[in-house]
Order: sequence, then structure tokens, then C-alpha cells
Amino acid sequence: MTFAADVIDKVVISEDQISHRVRELGAQITRDYRETGVHLVAVLKGSIAILADLLREIQVPVTVDFLAISGYAPSAGPGRTVRLIKDLEQDVRGRPVLIVEDIIDTGLTLSYIVRILRARQPASLNVLTFLDRPYRRLVDLPIAYVGFVIPDQFVIGFGLDYQERYRNLPFIATVKPGLSD
Ligand code: IMP
Ligand code: MG
Repeated sequence: MTFAADVIDKVVISEDQISHRVRELGAQITRDYRETGVHLVAVLKGSIAILADLLREIQVPVTVDFLAISGYAPSAGPGRTVRLIKDLEQDVRGRPVLIVEDIIDTGLTLSYIVRILRARQPASLNVLTFLDRPYRRLVDLPIAYVGFVIPDQFVIGFGLDYQERYRNLPFIATVKPGLSD
């Protein structure tokens, strides 16, 4: 990964750990949604890697849709706003919706998405997050599926970016001291 050598500090979740955990999550979702199938709502762009891998581990009928939220830095401070910049294409009313997120930090992004989707009256609404960093939580929402709980450090890889780069790393790594969001 020479293209990332200048930013990676430590690999904290390996490719093997990720694929093992994604298989477990897929099996769990397969059991939980056996009767209904599942409609995955992925939050762009960080969730692309978990979505692509998870999809193929789910063995019930699956449909997929995407939404995007305006990007704001976790350190942007008070007054920051969360805004929908790409809406879903399909109606979620009456459907078994599972939101797929890359990482939950403050919970602000997720609470905004949950509020929007709940108003559209899905049959059920659950959340999967690949990473959970619970230390700065401002809004606490139930999360049905968590890939990994991580320490209080900024991470890149497996969909997660640092200044829009490094989403292609196949593992999760911390960044060198001094760099962050
Ligand atoms: P929250 O609204 O504070 O929970 O922030 C969640 C969003 O911030 C995620 O969907 C990510 O896009 C981004 N984010 C938070 N922490 C990190 C990180 O460590 N690396 C990359 N992106 C992050
Ligand atoms: Mg991001």
C-alpha cells in the first residue's frame, strides 16, 4: 500500500477480520429477515465497501437504494448542518428497511437519516454500522448490527476516507498523528 504509506499509522482491523465479521453479519441478517427479505439503504459514500461485501453474504431477497448526506467534518463544531444531497429512488413505505452506515461517531448523521425515513413509514427500520465509535455520541439510537467497536481515533480504509482518499484500502487503519478528518 505504498500509495498510503505516508498517512497510515497502524492497521487496526485486517482484511481477514473484516471478511470474517461480514460473513457473521450476513448470516445474522439472513436469519432475521428470512420472512420478509430486506431493503438495504446505504449511506454514500463511506458504506460502499461494507454494502458490496455484505450483499453477497445475505441469502434472502435483497433490494438496494442509496442516499447521500452533505459531508461535514466531525470537528466542524457547533452550527454544522446535516442535509440530504441525494434522496432515495424508491419508496420505503411498508418495506423492511435496513440502513447501512460506515461509521457512527456523534450519531447526528444517523439520527437525521432515521428521522427522514421513519416519516416515510417503512414496515421496519433498523441500522447496521460497520464501525461504532461510541465516545462522542450526542444522539443515542439503537443499532441492531455493529461490525466493530473501535477506539477513539480517526480511521481510513474499507470505504472510509481522509479528504476523499484511501477508501480503497482493504483494511481499517488509523492515520498518523496530526492528520485527522
Ligand atoms: P456522525 O454524524 O458524527 O456520527 O458522523 C458520521 C459520519 O462522519 C460518517 O458517516 C463518516 O462519513 C464520517 N466519519 C466519522 N468518523 C470518521 C472516521 O474516523 N473516518 C472517516 N470518516 C468518518
Ligand atoms: Mg466521510
